[in-house]
Amino acid sequence: MFGRFSRRRFAKLAGFSALGLASTPAKPAGGQPKPALDQNAGAGFPDGFVWGTATSAYQIEGAVDEDGRGRSIWDTFAHTPGRIADHSNGDRANDHYHRYKEDVRLIRDLGVKAYRFSIAWPRVFPQGAGAPNPKGLDFYNRLVDELLANGIEPYATLYHWDLPQALQDRVGGWQSSATSKAFGDYAGYVAERLSDRVRNFFTVNEPGRFVNFGYGWNIDAPGLKLPQAEVNQVRHHVALAHGLAVQAIRAKARAGTRVGMAENIAACVPAIDTPENIRAAEIATRELNAGFLGVILEGKYTDAFLAYAGADAPKFTAEELKIISSPNDFVGLNIYAPQFYVVASDRAPGFDVLPFPASFPHMNSEWLRIGPETIYWVPRLAAKVWKIDTIYISENGTSSSDELAADGKVYDLDRISFLRNYLTQLQRATAEGVPVRGYFLWSLMDNFEWIFGFEKRFGLYRVDFDTQGRVPKLSVSFYRDVIARNAIGI
Ligand code: FCB
Repeated sequence: MFGRFSRRRFAKLAGFSALGLASTPAKPAGGQPKPALDQNAGAGFPDGFVWGTATSAYQIEGAVDEDGRGRSIWDTFAHTPGRIADHSNGDRANDHYHRYKEDVRLIRDLGVKAYRFSIAWPRVFPQGAGAPNPKGLDFYNRLVDELLANGIEPYATLYHWDLPQALQDRVGGWQSSATSKAFGDYAGYVAERLSDRVRNFFTVNEPGRFVNFGYGWNIDAPGLKLPQAEVNQVRHHVALAHGLAVQAIRAKARAGTRVGMAENIAACVPAIDTPENIRAAEIATRELNAGFLGVILEGKYTDAFLAYAGADAPKFTAEELKIISSPNDFVGLNIYAPQFYVVASDRAPGFDVLPFPASFPHMNSEWLRIGPETIYWVPRLAAKVWKIDTIYISENGTSSSDELAADGKVYDLDRISFLRNYLTQLQRATAEGVPVRGYFLWSLMDNFEWIFGFEKRFGLYRVDFDTQGRVPKLSVSFYRDVIARNAIGI
């Protein structure tokens, strides 16, 4: 087995030989000059495909005590010793609150036409409900104006995990449907004031993560380890919050405002492409997402979900199911890693999940297993299962070690390789008619990566957190080129 040292040494030697090759200019065979590359060649994406990038409030804004912002559960959590790998917190983060103009220029330079950011609920309602804080919303007014002035379409997420601490303290956060109602009110308040300029709202980001990690497994804020019945109830309250927000936005926003959610869908992939396994992956997609996407898109929990949950099943009313299943304009899917490789099974409900071998490859983040076909299969299966006509890939991307080279640049070749492979598979999906209308690359710039602190860098721009300098990584050139040609490959 290679030790740490020898593996590094190997990589270094391999790097040197690559440099050696590059220093010898390659001669075209036969001495003939190659024809110029056709700029329109490669595998194209549909006309009007939305290319974007994404961030979230707590991960970049900083300025946690400014202009009347209330505390969120992530302030509390990040300040609790032992919670964050590098002992950091989001107090300053990227200082985006003060540097948003500079950051909008970075977005513009990237060539994207869309930007997904999140609004910090505790800036707008410091206590979660009750009196609004107009200065909090002002920041987003400024940001939205700046985006539009630069030709960038804002996509606003209303909840990216920064629950007002006051709601956690008062009613137990998502353990209570009072939080769902407060979220609906907050959504209506924001939509009424921003929808003259913001035409797309994501309600909640990744219940699939924050419900389990925050309320079930004591990993994320608020750091609870509740019994399964209560975790299922929390998820139900989040689904209810989504539905109430959809209704509030319909009631308060300008006509034509579009709304959906952004979920890290349980990503099911047929282990081997056979008709039986593809069918099994459809069933798995439906059943393993029944607790959130399923109840929203079908208006009921599946029989198998309820049977599996047994006495732990969430308690709900018919009226709540109606609210939860209010029609959406799109479905946002955050897609990173394959989660379940599936084969057909004779046992109900008809699928088996295969174990991962220890040697399965992953990116710099250990959880980020590499499976480019995931971004082909997951939207295809979701569109089929729930008859969805508009999907956005609301997040995809990877961390990289992102060393600064001697010349001050970042050659993030692993990120480029990852993106090339995933985008090739996404193009395959759109070419087959899977209704993916846009893609938001996570993330615009390195930022506070939750429990990993600043150690995991997901950005297209490198951030020096001491100086707040931003440097484009090589992947900026890669992504800019994909966007300019609306195609992958040449
Ligand atoms: C997603 C989160 C996002 C970021 C990426 C890497 O789960 O929505 O905030 O942390 O992962």
